[in-house]
Amino acid sequence: MAAEVGEKWVLSVTAQTPTNIAVIKYWGKRDEELILPINDSISVTLDPGHLCTTTSVAVSPAFTHDRIWLNGKEVSLSGGRFQNCFRELRSRATDFEDENRGIKITKKDWEKLHVHIVSYNNFPTAAGLASSAAGLACLVFSLAKLMNVKEDHSKLSAIARQGSGSACRSLYGGFVKWIMGKEDNGSDSIAVQLADEKHWDDLVIIIAVVSSKQKETSSTSGMRDTVETSALIKHRAKEVVPKRIKEMEEAIAKRDFPSFARLACADIHRHEFLRNQGSPPRLDYKDNSQVAYTFDAGPNAVLISKDRKTAALLLQRLLFQFPPQSDTDLNSYVIGDKTILKDAGIEDLKDIEALAPPPEIKENPSTQRYRGDVSYFICTRPGRGPVVLADESQSLINPETGLPK
Ligand code: ADE
Repeated sequence: MAAEVGEKWVLSVTAQTPTNIAVIKYWGKRDEELILPINDSISVTLDPGHLCTTTSVAVSPAFTHDRIWLNGKEVSLSGGRFQNCFRELRSRATDFEDENRGIKITKKDWEKLHVHIVSYNNFPTAAGLASSAAGLACLVFSLAKLMNVKEDHSKLSAIARQGSGSACRSLYGGFVKWIMGKEDNGSDSIAVQLADEKHWDDLVIIIAVVSSKQKETSSTSGMRDTVETSALIKHRAKEVVPKRIKEMEEAIAKRDFPSFARLACADIHRHEFLRNQGSPPRLDYKDNSQVAYTFDAGPNAVLISKDRKTAALLLQRLLFQFPPQSDTDLNSYVIGDKTILKDAGIEDLKDIEALAPPPEIKENPSTQRYRGDVSYFICTRPGRGPVVLADESQSLINPETGLPK
């Protein structure tokens, strides 16, 4: 029996999807509509226990149109990117039946049925922390489950890519490569997993969130400007990145931190140089054997340290340099994996004030502390890919009304 308008059932799925940070950057598109990049990229998926999107999707014959609530507010779904994902998913939807509840949906029904989507990011939206990556990956992953789409993660990644380029990399945990692909229709522009999160679990990632405000320039328009105005970007894409990708894959396979760090830092230097259109690189690096750094599209610095011991020392230095305002709660100043804070010997704000200057700063008396310049720090590590949250209590959708809880 096909679903008929007027029936009361609401069928829902809830999923959680991680964000990711590129260590070899995606910058520049060869097709704006299909979101096809001009180079491969590699990312580390971040532990969804610290940074993630949770999305519930529901279908009911009672729904009159597709709707989405993002971080508590209903927003428009009319954008081409959402519509591209819906179209791709609906065309791959298959029959679904739940005999106990008397629900039967045929492949054809999915073309007419509407969905409700409720999504939360547990980190600032559009501040450069790849919220659209986690968000669109979660949207595609949860709708694919709901619609009984039988494609594997790589195929789903090609759909998520059409919502937000880097979303394709959030369909896997650990270390992920987005292959740019050659086909005009984008069918081979997919993400693949290079290694899972357990492969290299010594790494600790500390993100200094310097501003939770929305980005001033969107990645899309920033990229378009660069591709249109920079000859160097073509050189980067064709000559520099392919070699770097190969070397980065080797560094990850061998857990070779000095090479990993050298490549990630070199890539962000070139990338920042292009983004700033010829202004000198903002950073100076000498020794990356302990800590690698990169930035996302926003101003937040992402520091990847080789192990927990290094991360604790790094956190001490960061807290010395960027102490919080006096009224800040330490628990909200350093979030995520609190054990790094403990390893750094910091139990309360007094411990931060009492931190001795690190040796390299002692020798430079002009060094000042930048109180309040960092909004907060996130300590995290490589994490797993998307999962379905089966427990009904984790759903964000009211099972009776199909509206946000
Ligand atoms: N863009 C940013 N965050 C998102 C989310 N959670 N779902 C859909 N789009 C998003």
